[in-house]
Amino acid sequence: MEDLDQLRNEFLAAVAGAEDLESLEKVRVSVFGRKGLITERMKGVGALAPEERKAAGVALNAVKQVLADAIDARKAAFEDSGLEVRLENERVDVTLPARPIGEGRIHPISQTMDELLAIFGEMGFTLAEGPDIEDDFHNFTALNIPEEHPARQMHDTFYLPGGPDGARKLLRTHTSPVQIRHMQKAPPPHRIVALGRTYRCDSDITHTPMFHQLEGLVVDGHTHMGHLKGCLIEFCRAYFEVDDVPVRFRPSFFPFTEPSAEVDIGCKRSGGRLKIGGGDDWLEILGCGMVHPKVLANCGIDAGKFQGFAFGLGVERIAMLKYGIPDTRTFFESDLRWLSHYGFAAGDVPSMTGGLAR
Ligand code: PHE
Repeated sequence: MEDLDQLRNEFLAAVAGAEDLESLEKVRVSVFGRKGLITERMKGVGALAPEERKAAGVALNAVKQVLADAIDARKAAFEDSGLEVRLENERVDVTLPARPIGEGRIHPISQTMDELLAIFGEMGFTLAEGPDIEDDFHNFTALNIPEEHPARQMHDTFYLPGGPDGARKLLRTHTSPVQIRHMQKAPPPHRIVALGRTYRCDSDITHTPMFHQLEGLVVDGHTHMGHLKGCLIEFCRAYFEVDDVPVRFRPSFFPFTEPSAEVDIGCKRSGGRLKIGGGDDWLEILGCGMVHPKVLANCGIDAGKFQGFAFGLGVERIAMLKYGIPDTRTFFESDLRWLSHYGFAAGDVPSMTGGLAR
């Protein structure tokens, strides 16, 4: 019996000395496990003489109960303190300032394209699309820019490697091939805008090898130069949000329009700042003209019955002018600081309820 007392004390000490749930479990196994000391002793009880068996069993059971209670109590204590540690660590400090939620910004190019589509959508234009990879015919020949024409050099074209037939595809240098494709598809009347990426081998503060253009085309039986002027003056007012912005049509040349003009808007430069509207300075913003009869003929349209106008502008250029962005290359550097400065909140995108259809 004495050694049973000793055994009990040793194990109680081991239980008290266990430092965590894992070491407590080891103690439990050494007592109650299949080869644990109490288990072994229980087996030994069966071998005793019948008169000793009862007393030995009672004594052993008593120790067993004490040890089991001690282990349970220690286990509960560990679990309680674990909970306390978690409560301490996971406490929410409601007085801390909220973490800002990062909000995305609309890129100025996307914003400007949405504004353009909203304005021309209001005027009844629909959106036409075409491929970025073009052929010579749609990008040049059909637009009255024959081979050897100097305008081909002006465009600094990116050519792709020649195909089996020797014909080289190219990256469209302007959105004008979209008007050709559109006119080939269906008979007049036409009232479309084309909007998208264009490419020229050029890079400096006002040029990037990829940029965006918007092009407009109207063809029907009665449209004349007066409509062209009215449409573009209205556009300048709406886009720059200056009701009386002076607009000037300056004679110019494009192979695909006749007559052709460049459009300037009045501005004022003072102290390094540019103000759109008023003043005595001019800023060129787009090219336009009456569609050349040869272009209509190239698309199978009877130039004796139909006529119309076209215009084209650089999206980056007019975004830079409206939003005071000095360097066109920054549009494509993906600098988040730049984007959060020049970008727009989602709510700034104009509505397109003007009936723009694809
Ligand atoms: N396609 C011309 C360019 O890229 C712009 C333009 C379009 C001019 C339509 C007149 C008419 O330079």
